[in-house]
Amino acid sequence: MSTGPSRTSTSPAGDPRTAIGSAFQQAIVATLGDDYAGSDPLIRNTANPELGDFQCNAAMGLAKRVGQPPRDLAQKLVEVVDLEAIAEDLEIAGPGFINIRLKTDALANALGDMDNEQLGVEASDDPRPIVVDLCGVNVAKQMHVGHLRSTIIGDSLARVLERRGRHVLRENHLGDWGLPIAMVLHTLRTNGTDLDALTLTELDVAYRDAQARARGDAKGLEAARTRHSGPHRVAELEAQQSGAEEARAAASDTLVALQQGDDELVRDWNKLIDVTMQAVYEALDLLNVQMGPDNNRGESFYRDKLQPVIDHFEKASLCREDDGALVVDFEDRERPLLIRKRDGGFLYATSDLAALRHRTRDTGADRCIYVVDARQRDHFKDVFDAARLAGWNRTPDDHDVQLVHVPFGSIMGADKKPLKTRSGTNLTLASLLAEAIERGTREVASRSENPSAPTHGLDADAIGAIGRAVGIGAVKYADLSNDLVRDYVFDMDRMIAFEGDTGPYLQYAHARICSLLEKSGEGDLQSSGMTLDDATERQLALVLLRYGNTVSDVARTLEPHRLCGYLHELAETFSSFYQACPVLKTEDDGIRRSRLRLCDLTRRVLEDGLGLLGIEAPQRM
Ligand code: ARG
Repeated sequence: MSTGPSRTSTSPAGDPRTAIGSAFQQAIVATLGDDYAGSDPLIRNTANPELGDFQCNAAMGLAKRVGQPPRDLAQKLVEVVDLEAIAEDLEIAGPGFINIRLKTDALANALGDMDNEQLGVEASDDPRPIVVDLCGVNVAKQMHVGHLRSTIIGDSLARVLERRGRHVLRENHLGDWGLPIAMVLHTLRTNGTDLDALTLTELDVAYRDAQARARGDAKGLEAARTRHSGPHRVAELEAQQSGAEEARAAASDTLVALQQGDDELVRDWNKLIDVTMQAVYEALDLLNVQMGPDNNRGESFYRDKLQPVIDHFEKASLCREDDGALVVDFEDRERPLLIRKRDGGFLYATSDLAALRHRTRDTGADRCIYVVDARQRDHFKDVFDAARLAGWNRTPDDHDVQLVHVPFGSIMGADKKPLKTRSGTNLTLASLLAEAIERGTREVASRSENPSAPTHGLDADAIGAIGRAVGIGAVKYADLSNDLVRDYVFDMDRMIAFEGDTGPYLQYAHARICSLLEKSGEGDLQSSGMTLDDATERQLALVLLRYGNTVSDVARTLEPHRLCGYLHELAETFSSFYQACPVLKTEDDGIRRSRLRLCDLTRRVLEDGLGLLGIEAPQRM
């Protein structure tokens, strides 16, 4: 395997934990030998800041492996570890914990080193792109809340990867091709619908209508016949069934004509896409997600690339015929993957194989991330394994490609059932976002009535802009702050609260620091020295220094909730600092400026981190 382009990274200024970890790794090797290279030094934050800033917990486990008393091993490690430059004397506690306290000036230096645009985030110069498959709406249907989750999560992951210096291809794998679309086209045509005046709601109705018509009730018919349900019922079901067959036959003729480029059909098809995408772009705009036509590479894009997929699988004997259909078998499971139907039609999986081939072979991406509903887990497992069989998990420069499905759960209503509107219909994305913005605006407007609020006296437009940021921020944060696969209850009252683990709480913390900095009248703080004598200043510094590693963790694990948890902890740590340490009222000029610099750094990390979640950070709230 070739190594591909060089992959240097600018080392993250910052988190002393990294330096402490490597120092202990070296100490472990020096003490126990090369066999122990690569052992995890188990550096943790101490639960009790009085004992130190970090602890190394490796001695206990290693001692067991080599049969030494743990405290003795801890003692040996302490003797050889080289941390003099940054740490005070190390202390051994309990069964063999090693407590580490940073020297105050080392902490201040580390903080000074992250005080630049990078904020301690490591940037890679790997030129290979990363694909993030997100949104994935279906033409002729309303964008539903599942697509909302895919968009919010996918966009945040893309931002994190970009922040780490990677080039991201946001791919909107639209459901814009195939029999369902042909069915709608056929239905609209037989109904004589004027496509120029068509709304998305009408289109959505036509889609369901077309589906229902083609479905018929084969099972019902069989049951009616065997249970002798009476000639009337059987006749009724028979009529429905033959209607369904007709509808399907007509749809498949329509699809053939569309495939052959029938002018009128292609024009109509484009109109359906326009009607659907217009609503999608409006939603994306409200969500502050920058995606447009350039990101659309849907099923139709791959329509000419499906037969070549089949050819490849056939030529390499990777599939077999099964009752006229083509399937791919896997060694470890019974379930085969269907890649061509008996009638010669292709499937969702066939397009996904073509897409994967394009993504890895043509764009050279070395990581393909699919942010799609957890219910499609088996689909992606099968598609990824089939792609591996075909060798499409390698870049053209023969680098392994990481194929990942990021599954997510459903959004539930208060009744723990899939979210509905008050009137009981399926909630559309547009109505959900409208509600969030309305609530956010109401919240901000009511606070602005207080004469001492920084928003007091702002005009309706300005209040509206902040309200929108708050409402959308609330929805996004609630979506990102849980383990993604968990279903969660959509509770607007909780999400929009300015207290608790919410987006508005973080936005508010940020806005308060903005006001404080504005009041201080200080401009350039970067040149101020840092004094970190108070325990809360130290704590804040330590949390700030973790930012870079937190962002790398999210890039690696694709779990945005880690960043949410971090930002929440940062805001709370800031609040303890702010309660304990007066800032503007501090007489000593050096201390005041040092504290202001801590405020400024906190503000920038909050803004940057919220930005990675796709959440705006207004200056006033
Ligand atoms: N259109 C699909 C759906 O609504 C989602 C597409 C996800 N992306 C993919 N490459 N399959 O279920």
